[in-house]
Amino acid sequence: MLGLGTLARIAGEVRRDVAAAHARDPAARGTGSLEILAGWPGVQALLAHRVAHGMQGLGIPALPRSISFASRLATGVEIHPCAQIGPGLFIDHGSGVVIGETAQIGENVTLYQGVTLGGTGFATGKRHPTVQDNVTVGAGAKLLGAITIGHGAKIGANTVVVHDVPPNSTVVGNPGHPVRVDGQRPEGPDADWVHLPDPVAEAIKALSARIAELERELAARRGAEPGPEGDVRPLRPVRGPNPTGG
Ligand SMILES: CC(C)(COP(=O)(O)OP(=O)(O)OC[C@H]1O[C@@H](n2cnc3c(N)ncnc32)[C@H](O)[C@@H]1OP(=O)(O)O)[C@@H](O)C(=O)NCCC(=O)NCCS
Repeated sequence: MLGLGTLARIAGEVRRDVAAAHARDPAARGTGSLEILAGWPGVQALLAHRVAHGMQGLGIPALPRSISFASRLATGVEIHPCAQIGPGLFIDHGSGVVIGETAQIGENVTLYQGVTLGGTGFATGKRHPTVQDNVTVGAGAKLLGAITIGHGAKIGANTVVVHDVPPNSTVVGNPGHPVRVDGQRPEGPDADWVHLPDPVAEAIKALSARIAELERELAARRGAEPGPEGDVRPLRPVRGPNPTGG
């Protein structure tokens, strides 16, 4: 069964998980550690995972999966017992988080509700993301495949990430793309993924201009006043504020 050494290690990891909730959840200010253990589903899911992972490492059959399943029922967080999770992970709100079998998470990572660290298909072997230290992953973000999320990166809410993410960058959108690297906007012709031109609106505008020309011609032949021209607005603004909010 679990030896004293394993139990001591798990206790240390859980202490850091509770400390992470204290440090990173404003709602946890002034709350005791026991209250956090009793009322924070993300912390409970980690506690269950630390035990299940320890048992998995000792080769105990069936029990790790059962603990993981019971934890999923209670917290809405599904963590495969084999997933490697470093100290100081904070899963805020919990519900809907999925962490796959070959996922690796470094130190002091924050995940919000609805985050998936998943595979892209039926591949075997390493097929889930590696998340380095001090990364924050926003609510609903999907990180798919054996990609690496560089240390200190921020992944926006609802982002879908299928490629490696550089360290200290901010990545948003679907597909996820860096909008900040080391605090600077990335340079280059393909760097602005948010304010894309709208080819459908451009095509309709060209047709509208030709129709207006024909109407003017017809009105002139009839000796009538030309009617007002139709206004075609782009489906999304090409300049101005980010249409996705933020
Ligand atoms: C990505 C995030 C971390 C932004 O961090 P930041 O470094 O402060 O970056 P900014 O706010 O300056 O945003 C950078 C750009 O990305 C855009 N952006 C930010 N978050 C975005 C998102 N989730 N989806 C799409 N675009 C986003 C911003 O509008 C901005 O665009 P701009 O360059 O055109 O101005 C933050 O917006 C986010 O999504 N946090 C997750 C929070 C969360 O899940 N909370 C749940 C609480 S229950």
